[in-house]
Amino acid sequence: MTDLIQIGLGPWGIDWATNIFPQFTDAKVTGWVDASPGARAAFVAETGADPATMYATVEEALEATGAVAVIAPVAIGAHAAVARQVLEAGAHLLLEKPFALDTATARELAGLAAERGLVFGIDQNYRIFPAAPVVRDLLERQAVGTIRRVSLEWHRIHQGVRDSNALVELAIHHFDLMRHLFGREAVAITCVPVTPVQSAQDRTPGASLIVELDGGLTIDYVLSSQGVDAQTPWPGVWRISGDEGLIRWGAAPDDHRAVSISNGDGNTTAIEVPELPLFERAGVLRAFIDAVEGTGAPTSPAADNAHSVAMLEAALTSARTGQRTRVEQW
Ligand SMILES: NC(=O)c1ccc[n+]([C@@H]2O[C@H](COP(=O)([O-])OP(=O)(O)OC[C@H]3O[C@@H](n4cnc5c(N)ncnc54)[C@H](O)[C@@H]3O)[C@@H](O)[C@H]2O)c1
Repeated sequence: MTDLIQIGLGPWGIDWATNIFPQFTDAKVTGWVDASPGARAAFVAETGADPATMYATVEEALEATGAVAVIAPVAIGAHAAVARQVLEAGAHLLLEKPFALDTATARELAGLAAERGLVFGIDQNYRIFPAAPVVRDLLERQAVGTIRRVSLEWHRIHQGVRDSNALVELAIHHFDLMRHLFGREAVAITCVPVTPVQSAQDRTPGASLIVELDGGLTIDYVLSSQGVDAQTPWPGVWRISGDEGLIRWGAAPDDHRAVSISNGDGNTTAIEVPELPLFERAGVLRAFIDAVEGTGAPTSPAADNAHSVAMLEAALTSARTGQRTRVEQW
């Protein structure tokens, strides 16, 4: 049995506790942490957690429980500070996205985990939608030949996204999927937000972006939470056009399993998408626990995810300056 601490008991922390952890028989949370007494009280009322297992700081929780691993669905502004606290306390960490808002912080924290020999993963759960490995495999096998053109559209009327910075809240998932699906790093991003964005804290309900990946591949990416249109699935609707066909992944309304290939004559074949043993966050948590137990690796190691953070940082800079912005590489 792996004992964990959970830091962050807001809406998403409640969702982890009620929908994800109950799927596991070999892992359990023995200490719950939130800096806000109100959030701790609301969490106890919502989940029925034992008030004796609630803590204000991670240090107290780790000392009282002896747990060696932490999962942190904590407020975005606290990610870097919480990650430093947990890693310096010598615990393994699964942190929610976005890992960080800038590459320097992400690289420093990933380096700290490596120095201490700790497992450090990021919950980039869109990689664990069942169609993601299918599309990745089609691309690896060059099922439609050389890729010439890619578009990605995400549209959902979602209060949480509309009232936040959609780049920070959502685009990080899609940046990470671009790297994951195509196996390429990003070169530059041009980002036009729906409303002005001077910093990561400024709200914006969406953006239009041009993302350039290495090897000369360009993705037209639209992120939208306003206007009337059918709801796309969370990973979005992808059109990937190659010399020998068109791969489509995702269909509105809200179908994340739809994958097909159309050939040059317009004939379309549906591609089978097998179920995964564990869906999205449950798959991320399974891999993290296995890594903590010494078998396997997290689905998105922090050191790799720092390259997705570099894309977010470039998008935010481009939104602020209005310029095409190079994505930092190392
Ligand atoms: N992977 C996904 O698909 C997905 C979906 C939704 C949310 N999220 C992520 O989950 C995280 C939490 O989301 P939320 O909407 O519950 O956030 P939130 O802003 O409501 O914050 C969650 C909790 O963090 C607590 N907190 C803030 N600073 C703290 C600190 N230093 N120490 C301890 N607790 C602290 C707050 O009191 C709050 O209760 C975010 O990182 C968000 O991006 C991920």
